[in-house]
Amino acid sequence: MEFSIKSDYSDSRNLCVVAGVFEARRGRFTLFAKQIDQVSGGYLTEFLQRGEMEGKLANVLMLHHVPGMTARVLLVGLGKEKTYREAEFRKVVRAAVTALDSAGIQRAFLSLTSGEAPQDTSWRIRQAVLVAEEALYRFTRCKSKKLPPRRHALRHLTLAADSPELSANETALSQGRAIAEGVRLARDLGNLPANICTPEYLAETARDMASELKLACTILTPKKIAAEGMEALLAVARGSRQEARFIHIEYNPSKSMGRPLVLVGKGITFDSGGISLKPAAGMDEMKYDMCGAAAVLGVLRAAARMALPVPLVALIPCCENMPGGAAARPGDIVRSLSGQSIEILNTDAEGRLLLCDALAYAKRCKPVAIIDVATLTGACVVALGHVASGLFTQDEDLARALAQAAETAQDRLWRLPLWEEYGEALKSGFADIANVGGRDGGAITAASFLSRFVDKKIPWAHLDIAGTAWSGDKEKGATGRPVALLCHYLLQRAQARDAPADKAL
Ligand code: BES
Ligand code: MN
Ligand code: ZN
Repeated sequence: MEFSIKSDYSDSRNLCVVAGVFEARRGRFTLFAKQIDQVSGGYLTEFLQRGEMEGKLANVLMLHHVPGMTARVLLVGLGKEKTYREAEFRKVVRAAVTALDSAGIQRAFLSLTSGEAPQDTSWRIRQAVLVAEEALYRFTRCKSKKLPPRRHALRHLTLAADSPELSANETALSQGRAIAEGVRLARDLGNLPANICTPEYLAETARDMASELKLACTILTPKKIAAEGMEALLAVARGSRQEARFIHIEYNPSKSMGRPLVLVGKGITFDSGGISLKPAAGMDEMKYDMCGAAAVLGVLRAAARMALPVPLVALIPCCENMPGGAAARPGDIVRSLSGQSIEILNTDAEGRLLLCDALAYAKRCKPVAIIDVATLTGACVVALGHVASGLFTQDEDLARALAQAAETAQDRLWRLPLWEEYGEALKSGFADIANVGGRDGGAITAASFLSRFVDKKIPWAHLDIAGTAWSGDKEKGATGRPVALLCHYLLQRAQARDAPADKAL
């Protein structure tokens, strides 16, 4: 979709203008709605007085023939003014965009980004772009018939700003576009089935993106992965006919930028469980087990598009977890890249086996910090549901910065503890560590396992996105989370570059 920024709605190409109404006894106009009401000689007021629009959150009312207006007017309820905040803004924009699109409107003016709240104009512009793109996203690549054209009516959205000439607005707009593009990439990759989105497909995607955006990219094939000593990753890969790939891709805005932030993404293109096979019901959803990988690629794309002054390295171990003849068996012991031996008690706890090798490899990049992203445990879904991603870290600065970015992005996370005691469950009688603890605290024992492979001196955070990376509702599909969260974290870092270096987390 296209976006532009203006203060004035009266472009004759606009087929509709969106005006907000707060919830009050007879509804209460925003400044913009009041202006339209005056132009129309009080026409809008009638709808409020008749109780046809009370301003209830995300309610919409399309008015076709408004006196003095060539465009239609879409009234949208903002809820009570006191409670009109970030989440409400997003709901309202989503409702407006959906209504415009299903009414077949191709071009519209969105007044909601002007005014005073929530946050500032830049935030509202960024979010409006993100929400609009998110709301109209459809995954149609595997359908032979195109969806009816009406579904994709909305082509251009003009966002209101009180001072449209400010360069900050344009910056926010291009940030919104870049992040939305990253989110879209992550959703597309997530939604692709495992017979198309194989480890090699992910590698190809990375390679293509790298040449398009001038990033350095190396793909390791099984031979090279073995030569490096990533035995844990290979132990998972061997059960499948699909070969493993290890993607190493770098975004380096300039040579003098210093040490990179390393992002690690779990790239299991299908998780059958391996020999510890999963039950049949819902197993199709395990095509989403590469959403960590997809998110990391999305973030890299967005960061490069925004030309952020933050050097990044993405490490993405990719393979398929299948019960083939060469698959790892429960009880097998493998040596990880870190040198530690691992007893594989459950082949379905495969994510941590890829990640532990990638985390050990990460040390070579001399990172300022490491963040891994993974659909790691069903236990995290039990704990946090589908609202918040799980955050695990022992670094308070990183925790604070990520929490702040999550709030700003409205891509939420919640911290769970990572105390030493949780490591007890992973004791093995035969190897240095077992790959599973018990059922209890499963998300935390998984994180605790990973912590054993990260140098304690490097700030590290683990995001468990098992509950947030896709939605199982009737609108089933990948969400693109936590691309927006991580992009906002990078924006924060870029800003903090002017602040003292040690505060730059
Ligand atoms: N990919 C799954 C985690 C998962 C489960 C994500 C359900 C989303 C929804 C992971 O590889 C896995 O199978 N984890 C096991 C770990 C267990 C064997 C310790 C789990 O959560 O059941
Ligand atoms: Mn598994
Ligand atoms: Zn998995």
